[in-house]
Amino acid sequence: MKNPPEHERTVGSINVIVCADAQSASQKAAELMSNAIRSRPKIVLGLATGGTPVEMYRQLAKMHEHDGLDFSNVTSFNLDEYIGLSADHPQSYRMFMQQKLFDHINIKSENTHVPDGLAADPQQHAKEFEALIVKAGGIDVQLLGVGQNGHIAFNEPGSTADSRARVIELTPATIQSNARFFASADEVPKTAITLGIGTILEAKRIVLLAIGSNKATAIHRALEGKPDISHPASLLQNHDDVTFIVDESAASLL
Ligand code: F6R
Repeated sequence: MKNPPEHERTVGSINVIVCADAQSASQKAAELMSNAIRSRPKIVLGLATGGTPVEMYRQLAKMHEHDGLDFSNVTSFNLDEYIGLSADHPQSYRMFMQQKLFDHINIKSENTHVPDGLAADPQQHAKEFEALIVKAGGIDVQLLGVGQNGHIAFNEPGSTADSRARVIELTPATIQSNARFFASADEVPKTAITLGIGTILEAKRIVLLAIGSNKATAIHRALEGKPDISHPASLLQNHDDVTFIVDESAASLL
């Protein structure tokens, strides 16, 4: 089945691809990622969790199974992890990545990196995680989602453009929003390890995927607002190779 048409425009320096619906936006993002992997098999990917990329990961797993998309030389680094959750906790981001992607493709487990939620010294661990990215040659393609409050990774409003990997306190809004994955909001960890905005802006290419009308304000502010720390995603305007892939609902205020 052919995907419904998409249209592409540039807002400021950012390339925006508007797809008809969630499915075609996920498909588009998967195509972009798979093209990047095929053209650079030893690619270093920056990966995100959350509801948004689930269908995209499913598509990538399908491309591995049916079209031979090869992850054997790919290295990955995830953006963030909750502090206090072990790798095998059902809501940990490590578990998410295993279940949604890694268990379905041929990436080598030693090449996958997710911050350790149980690190004895999380701040030190965050620094070492960032050093590992540098050692791997930096991120070639960084995938991002966006929070309704404009956060990217767990860089909440107020995070500066030069912020580095660190421990961060989650805002009540983010805790509330992520409570849908837990039995109750009380169970959502209050702190996390996150890459910084400065770390993210060092990626060679950034792809942000946003789906649904609850992201429309965040996308509008990110693209048409002045770059400002009150809306972290707007700081992506400071990078020269950013693509937003959004569905019509997320693009509705543009
Ligand atoms: C997840 C992450 C977060 C999410 C954002 C959107 O690794 O870094 O910034 O991308 O919270 O989450 P969803 O996709 O659940 O709406």
